[in-house]
Amino acid sequence: MCGIAGYVGPRKESVRLVLDNLKRLEYRGYDSAGVAVATSAGVRVLKKEGKLGNLVGALGDLATASGTVIAHTRWATHGRPSDQNAHPHTDCDGKIALIHNGIVENYLELKEKLLADGHKFASDTDTEVLVHLIESEYRVLGDMEQAVRSALRKVTGAYAICVVSEYEPGTIYAAKTASPLILGLGDGENFLASDIPAIMRHTRRVIVMEDGDFAKITAGGVILTDLESRPIDRKEFAVTWDVHTAEKGGYPHFMLKEIHEQPKTIRDTLRGRVTDEGQIVFPDFRLSPARLLDFNRIFIVACGTAYHAGMVGKSFFEHLLRRPVEVQVASEFRYSDPLVDSKTLAIIISQSGETADTLAALREAKAKGATTLAIVNVVGSSIAREADEVLYTYAGPEICVASTKAYVTQLVSLYLFGLYIAQQENKLSKDIVASYVEDLLAIPDKMAGVLADTKAVEKIALRLSNTSSCFFFLGRGLDFAVSMEGALKMKEISYIHAEAYPAGELKHGPLALVEPGVTVVCLATQSALYDKMLSNVKEVKAREGIAVAVVKENDQGLDERSVDAVLTVPSTRHDVLMPILAIVPLQLLAYYIASDLGREIDQPRNLAKSVTVE
Ligand code: G6P
Repeated sequence: MCGIAGYVGPRKESVRLVLDNLKRLEYRGYDSAGVAVATSAGVRVLKKEGKLGNLVGALGDLATASGTVIAHTRWATHGRPSDQNAHPHTDCDGKIALIHNGIVENYLELKEKLLADGHKFASDTDTEVLVHLIESEYRVLGDMEQAVRSALRKVTGAYAICVVSEYEPGTIYAAKTASPLILGLGDGENFLASDIPAIMRHTRRVIVMEDGDFAKITAGGVILTDLESRPIDRKEFAVTWDVHTAEKGGYPHFMLKEIHEQPKTIRDTLRGRVTDEGQIVFPDFRLSPARLLDFNRIFIVACGTAYHAGMVGKSFFEHLLRRPVEVQVASEFRYSDPLVDSKTLAIIISQSGETADTLAALREAKAKGATTLAIVNVVGSSIAREADEVLYTYAGPEICVASTKAYVTQLVSLYLFGLYIAQQENKLSKDIVASYVEDLLAIPDKMAGVLADTKAVEKIALRLSNTSSCFFFLGRGLDFAVSMEGALKMKEISYIHAEAYPAGELKHGPLALVEPGVTVVCLATQSALYDKMLSNVKEVKAREGIAVAVVKENDQGLDERSVDAVLTVPSTRHDVLMPILAIVPLQLLAYYIASDLGREIDQPRNLAKSVTVE
């Protein structure tokens, strides 16, 4: 997830104007930024590591420059944050500049060919292949528009790109597949951006580009076609939101926006990692299979939500690999003199990659000789740099302190990694791996279905926000792991006490507290444990507690007569994958209760997004 902004038109100081627009997109990425301005005199580019302010501070005479401008704020995916890896990227002669949001899946193969043809690369990014590819097409075709089209036909992956060049200084070519791009229509000038807030100060007339769209943008107008040059008609609409609402994509809080982004982030995390035959590949993996398999102990170490993802990982790994796995919170692990040696694989999970306890745990594991694999969201973060191997979760920047989309991408990464090891060990047949992959690929659409209709959860949330003095979250097996995350979400943002229990433990303590006004959320998504959960639900109702059930579609055992609310999620063939879907109603329940109570949802009291102290 990166931010893109651009402008074509007659205004003076258009570099400054575009960077002002880009400021509104910093929530999309903030590890480096860059700008290119095209005039008949050529293309000038400036890029700087760090926040946009660093770039603005270094502009010099570019601060007053005018011309056709594209600019970018980066959230690194390939290549650590640095001046070189920042966008725009340029061709060998510096005549074409390109910015990109997304992932080029076949970049290694394309880069090899381009290197063989003599192209010189200046960065470690996947993006740079795009601009060299355009350069190479331009050499043959002698026409920018055709060169961009032709290059894009050779690319697989997700992209929103914008290109300027010395050859046509008054034109921006833009195209998009999975990543967002909008056009802002002005009078004798046009704008583009990743998101509407960036251009709202200048125009409210917007066209939202759709997948496969290709745009030629000049001061005089916008021509939209598909990649094969067939005309496309997209309706322009007038934006009526205020800027603050628009920054959150029209949602009242980043948390709700991020919950709704989850299907996309899951797709992004799966992209490029599963083959058409349903097998797992990690194209950039440096750890040899021999090193990866030479362990007799697995630790999963993390804090907070990432730890809860680790709990799911433990069950999945044990189920799949039949090996013991220990999961520990990082602050305990580091001081417990853990039984780690050179035969240990330590999996470190962290959204930020900077959590002090998690980083210290990583160092402790390394010092004791373990092989370390980090599952991290922030590219170039300390944990990503120091681990032997990294699997990135492509959640994009998570703004809300309470983690949602990072959690589901951590789960996906753990599933992929577990399957990858099983594949290397020949533990599972190709067909079984493919059936897991098929289920995983189906999850984004299933989750989008849950998010499309949140009425049931909103209704019960409205009732519980006034009546519930405390919450228990009960589940067995994997449902218990999900309960832990559900309870954390509830306490973090609603400030109502919430506790998770393995459902079988209800009778060993918490049942004493169940009475009217106490809500018990009962998860029953694991078929093998379903009947046992039904008994727990009855125990709650017999004490007049409020029971909310989370069940799979077509559930026969629980309905509005037996419990106070039923929240349904689609099922998967493999119950071990259910946590990704089961967490969604719990995130929404916490969100709507907190919203009804008027809490500071995105920045709950006393909490921080990244805890860099012990
Ligand atoms: C803080 C955040 C949580 C997060 C935890 C671990 O407590 O508020 O949302 O789960 O840190 O953070 P990490 O970045 O390591 O995943």
